[in-house]
This record gives sequence, C-alpha cells and structure tokens, in this order.
Amino acid sequence: MTQTRTLYLICSAAPPVFDVARVIEDAQARGWDVCLGLTPTAAHWLAGSLDGLAALTGHPVRWQYKLPGDPDVWPPADALLFAPATFNSVNAWALGLTDRFVVGVAAEALGKGTPAVAMPCANAALARHPQFEQSLATLRTAGVEVLYGDTGYVPGAPGTDDPGPFPWPLALDAVTTLGIRTP
Ligand SMILES: Cc1cc2nc3c(=O)[nH]c(=O)nc-3n(C[C@H](O)[C@H](O)[C@H](O)COP(=O)(O)O)c2cc1C
Repeated sequence: MTQTRTLYLICSAAPPVFDVARVIEDAQARGWDVCLGLTPTAAHWLAGSLDGLAALTGHPVRWQYKLPGDPDVWPPADALLFAPATFNSVNAWALGLTDRFVVGVAAEALGKGTPAVAMPCANAALARHPQFEQSLATLRTAGVEVLYGDTGYVPGAPGTDDPGPFPWPLALDAVTTLGIRTP
C-alpha cells in the first residue's frame, strides 16, 4: 500500500497566493497530504479563507510559531514547496532570518535534508538587487531546486500589482518528482 506523503506548502505575500486553494487540490490529486503555512502578510491577505483552507487540507493553517510546550500540529514533511516566494522571503530564507514561523520551517528543512523547491515571485527590478542573486545561489547550494527565469517564474515589469503568469504546475511537478525520488 502506498503511504501518503506530506507536503509543506509555504506561501508568502505575492498575488499568486490567491490561487492556493486550487493548488492544494492539484497537490492532493498528485497524492500529497498538504499542510499550508503562510507568512503573516499572506495570512492577512487570505484572512477570509483561512478556515476553508484548513478544512481543505485537514490541518491547521499556520503562520505563527506555537507557544513553548504546545504540541506540533503538523505531521513531519516529506517535501517542502515555497511558492510564491517573495523577494523578502527568499532573502530571509537564504540569510537564515527566522523571525517568521514559515521561514523557520523552511530553514530547518535545509538542515534536515527535506527535499525543497522554491518558486520565487519577484519583479525584474527586485531581481536586479545585488542580494537576490546571492540568495538564490545560497539556496541552490543548500540543495533547494529554485524555479526562476528560464526554469520557472519569469519576472514581470515592476510597478504593477499583476506579477504575470505564475507556473504553479511546474512547481508541483518539481516537488512531486523530488519527493518521489527521496523516500
Ligand atoms: C498588491 C501587491 C503585490 C505584491 N507583489 C509582490 C511580488 O510579486 N513579489 C514580491 O516580492 N513582493 C510583492 N509585494 C510586496 C510583499 O507583499 C511585501 O514585501 C511583504 O512584506 C512580503 O512579506 P512576506 O515575504 O513575509 O510575505 C506585493 C505587495 C502588494 C501590496
């Protein structure tokens, strides 16, 4: 019998986060048990949908650290997908700045050897900031499959609320392939 595998889907505050219910259903159709983690800003954007997303995944949606002594409410991860990963979250993850719960989860995943995929969503101006390329290189060196540019999200122009097409199926394909390869 095939055991269900657990995917931590981590989303930060860029417009593709509004697709998350459909993405969860797609991941579930691929056999994943999905736990949804959000940055505080993403949780604020999705405030009206959090109960429905918890019902859809069957797990609490998390965006804050638990209190000391509280139990872990998620099963251990078999793979992690950080998408959309904002400029801010990419840099925080690479620099190890874990004041936000989900960045802490993603940072620990590197040390645990959890297969991890990131699809950044940062416009072309942010992408030219000198830290951004370094952060992507750091994450790649740590084993994260980064889907950006030719291999993933193609940055749009700055100055608009619409970041352009976000290829969610590529992200799910990548994490599913990685998660299957690593039992
Ligand atoms: C309408 C709107 C669209 C945004 N789109 C993006 C985006 O595509 N990429 C990005 O890096 N930041 C974007 N931002 C800015 C982030 O939401 C902001 O930097 C936030 O602090 C990110 O926090 P987080 O990484 O903790 O989610 C957008 C903000 C707004 C209000």
